[in-house]
Amino acid sequence: MNLKMTPIAVVCGGILILAAVVFAVVYWPWATRIETPSEIFRNRAPEEVKGRKIYIANGCSYCHTQSIRSVDWGLGAERIAQAGDYVADRPILIGSERTGPDLSQEGGEHPDDWHIAHFVNPRNTRPNSIMPPFEYLQTANIKTLIRYVQSLGFKQADKRMERQTHWKKEAVKAYEAGPDENVRWIHSQVPEGWRKVPNPYPTTEAGLARGQKIYQDFCIGCHGSVGDGMGAGQPYIYPPPLNFTILKNRGISGGILYYQIMNGITGTAMPYFKKELESEKIWDVGNYTAVYFIGETDANTEPKGIDASYEPEG
Ligand code: HEC
Ligand code: HEC
Repeated sequence: MNLKMTPIAVVCGGILILAAVVFAVVYWPWATRIETPSEIFRNRAPEEVKGRKIYIANGCSYCHTQSIRSVDWGLGAERIAQAGDYVADRPILIGSERTGPDLSQEGGEHPDDWHIAHFVNPRNTRPNSIMPPFEYLQTANIKTLIRYVQSLGFKQADKRMERQTHWKKEAVKAYEAGPDENVRWIHSQVPEGWRKVPNPYPTTEAGLARGQKIYQDFCIGCHGSVGDGMGAGQPYIYPPPLNFTILKNRGISGGILYYQIMNGITGTAMPYFKKELESEKIWDVGNYTAVYFIGETDANTEPKGIDASYEPEG
């Protein structure tokens, strides 16, 4: 065949290639698009739609994804994202950078007061955060943005929000009834078995130094540098961050501290750390709190298990 670059061959060839590209890149994705909502999908309320615009305008998606993939099971994911989760999203905010955590299931992870403290200045709740402060948005816009963030995860978020709202009422009631009732209520969240468990590791200098570092990186913004609950985030949080000094002589144990730090306290701003801190770090920061702020520790008491194999002598 004689394939000469005649003008007609160039034009026809060009059109053919263009048609093939349009077919593959435009038509094919359009024809196979998924418009069936996933089982968790629901429409957004008007305030949530407004909040989404604030999210877009402030470039949140440059640091946050909204898509959990199957490789993320290892990060403690709850559910893998499905195409049907995005049927109402134009533009879709999947994002490609995870400078911060994925937010597709963020709704109800924290109560609203935690979010206010965090958006005003992320270092209120996470002392070494590199997320910029959004105080300039001002209270009304921050509250609208929070409505959107609390809807991420749709029906699953709604369930978590219901839990937050339910427990928030209980937490506020307990706090307002005074320290005795508050500590009783907080400890009633801890299963009986855990309450009796002492810290299994003896207090060591290294353990306390590790505990202090973890406290400074994760806790100081709320519980404050002397453990009195007067950290920088305190003005935004209600019930306010716990003043650890009230725990003395109120039946505290290593097990209670461990359980609360691991799981957080739903309804209060106290987050869970089970995905961020390994077991030893939780015992360490618990013991640091016990020794320096509460003034009593059970870290050296019976019953003790077999010495952990790598635990140094003495
Ligand atoms: C420069 C990157 C960056 C930008 C921009 C950014 N974030 Fe973040 N974000 C982070 C990092 C890092 C963290 C983790 C530390 C922390 O909690 O602050 C985080 C944490 C969060 C969390 C808490 C997640 C959790 O449950 O612990 C939320 C919610 C959040 N960001 C929302 C937003 C929203 C909404 C915007 C836009 C208004 C935004 N972020 C902009 C980096 C960023
Ligand atoms: C965003 C604020 C915030 C951060 C960050 C935070 N806490 Fe809390 N914490 C709270 C609040 C609020 C309560 C419950 C106050 C109440 O209901 O009276 C609480 C309660 C607790 C309790 C319960 C005590 C008991 O006797 O049951 C422990 C233990 C605790 N925090 C330890 C920590 C540790 C350790 C860290 C860091 C790893 C930390 N918290 C980080 C806000 C925070």
